[in-house]
Amino acid sequence: MNEIHQKILHLRKQLHQYNYEYYVLSQPTISDIEFDFLLKNLQALEELHPEYYDSNSPTQRVGSDSTTSFVQVSHQYPMLSLSNTYSEGEVRDFYERVSKSIDEPFELVCELKFDGTSISLIYENGVLKQAITRGDGEKGDDVTNNVKTIRTIPLVLHGNQYPAFFEVRGEIVMPWEVFDMLNKEREEQDEPLFANPRNATSGTIKLQNSSLVAKRNLDAYFYAVLGNNLPANTHYDNLLRAREYGFKVSTNTKKCSSLQEVLEYIEYWDIARKQLPVATDGIVIKVNSLTQQRFLGLTAKSPRWAIAYKFQAEKAVTRLNSVSYQVGRTGAVTPVANLDPVLLSGTIVKRASLHNASIIASLDLYVGDSVFVEKGGEIIPKITGVDLDARILIGSKIQFITHCPECGSKLVNLPGEAAHYCPNEDDCPPQIKGKIEHFVSRKAMNIDGLGKETIDLLYQQGLVKKVSDLYDLSAEQLSVLERLGEKSANNIIEAIEHTKQIPFERVLFALGIRFVGETVAKKLAMAFHSIDKIQEASIQELVEVDEIGERIAQSVYEYLHNNKHQQLIQKLKDYGLQFTLAEDKLALKSTILAGKKFVISGTFSQFSRDELKDLIENNGGKNIGSVSSQVDFIVAGDNMGPAKLAKAQKLNITLLTEQEFMAMLENGKTILKK
Ligand code: IVH
Repeated sequence: MNEIHQKILHLRKQLHQYNYEYYVLSQPTISDIEFDFLLKNLQALEELHPEYYDSNSPTQRVGSDSTTSFVQVSHQYPMLSLSNTYSEGEVRDFYERVSKSIDEPFELVCELKFDGTSISLIYENGVLKQAITRGDGEKGDDVTNNVKTIRTIPLVLHGNQYPAFFEVRGEIVMPWEVFDMLNKEREEQDEPLFANPRNATSGTIKLQNSSLVAKRNLDAYFYAVLGNNLPANTHYDNLLRAREYGFKVSTNTKKCSSLQEVLEYIEYWDIARKQLPVATDGIVIKVNSLTQQRFLGLTAKSPRWAIAYKFQAEKAVTRLNSVSYQVGRTGAVTPVANLDPVLLSGTIVKRASLHNASIIASLDLYVGDSVFVEKGGEIIPKITGVDLDARILIGSKIQFITHCPECGSKLVNLPGEAAHYCPNEDDCPPQIKGKIEHFVSRKAMNIDGLGKETIDLLYQQGLVKKVSDLYDLSAEQLSVLERLGEKSANNIIEAIEHTKQIPFERVLFALGIRFVGETVAKKLAMAFHSIDKIQEASIQELVEVDEIGERIAQSVYEYLHNNKHQQLIQKLKDYGLQFTLAEDKLALKSTILAGKKFVISGTFSQFSRDELKDLIENNGGKNIGSVSSQVDFIVAGDNMGPAKLAKAQKLNITLLTEQEFMAMLENGKTILKK
């Protein structure tokens, strides 16, 4: 083995170890800077030497933006579920059933039931081969690339004592902290919120783009080892061994020898779980001995050797006083129940979400009703029902409003959508203020210092009624506002001035067009290059853009054909904001690649794979899915698969780097700009 290869292998080994210490043991032995330094070193070496590619290298944790749909794979052992119990009595029944059946001493293992999405991982000779979702229990989706981005999951196992072939099962979870941040970000971008970490986890693991998964910081806990040559004959010892191999196994797992101990474990964790960094929805109780497990066997759906005890969702009964309606920045109206304060999961609850009109209708609510309020895995408490027996004197029936509570406009209900909207987007105060807040937000115009309260003041005093008014503000006007000193005022004016340099795609996002998030804004900007071209596009032409469906196209079209918005855009143009794509991002158009067939492989730094594909098509070339003798060029990014590379070399196909490909286009001299 040559020196470079040895160096690469050594770096990988070191980084796997540091990763394990940091993410699994929470005991880092080197600093973040040192870690990044080693990782960058490895990245550079791997880039220079694609022949040493390894799909389990620590550099693979960043994911790729290639979008493949998932392949279905059969589970070697079906993924069963557990029978659920909800009371101490049912746990006692389970204990007695087990004791009667096996008629010898037995131990139980109590574990936390993590609330995420289950995953099965297959390891061959210490290397992660495949990660499969539960699916229907028989077959699941191969989500290996996404799972590799989870840093607590070992890509290569520790030590050398593990079985050559085995499976581990566990739960992928999204820690509360990550979940809260994700929802905050989604709120800022007017995207629908995830109701709980479970939904957020399963949504994330099914994303087509693993580099997005990498950004979501998922975690995973493992609770089962399966295979023919397991290291031990008890479940508990196998878990301990799994921890040694590098898996995150909860340290809260406990071996119990009596029913009493099991009940104490349940009682303890029912309270203590609230301090955990991840969501749990119960306790799993398993017979420890694998021999006893085999003896007890399975029913059609679940094992007889285990049960789940589900925690009660915390519930309270209180009085419904009224329902108020909040209007968001895009005009979406959310009904909120105002309640008599009640203690729920340690916090006083005064308000609960009622979601939308159809939920209100199905609950059949009256003012004065005694309602059940629940706080499950959800962040916002919800009303789950009415105590009809307690309904003695009732007030008026709660009926969803027909007009906006803020501006009086008649609400609209788009077909296929649960939400009602106030259509008066330019004159309804919360919508105006919300749009300004969105415009100045970090991912849009990033005007630091202009918080919610300041915007409220500016609006109240009539200084800012639409985003373009920000450009008429002076430092003097700002500094006389409450709580704003001269220095902060100057900083704000400077930040406003700086927005004139912000690229078109972010300006487009900042406008706050309904359904136009960051990604959609980018896609539109890349496809049309200027606001004028987007405005000229028909709905059909808009839909032709990747990831843009009818609903978004309709919204963009309506926004840009509204007189007031056209005036606003004109004003912003006059102030010097960017409404065309910067020169360097302008897609090239030509027939220079006519008749040439391309394969894109690997990951790229300057463009996404979709952008490269667009470039090829815009210049007359054709994109092909796989390497064959028909292919003229391969645009090869980082981490191109070794099999593809070997095939390309065998067929003598020219490989181009991203830069070589761009040079080829630019030297074509037939560049046309849209
Ligand atoms: S054991 C045959 N242990 O709960 C038994 N499951 O229906 C296999 N879960 O979706 C499951 N934490 O993913 C087991 N400590 C734990 C668990 C656990 C969460 C999930 C599992 C499955 C469901 C059981």
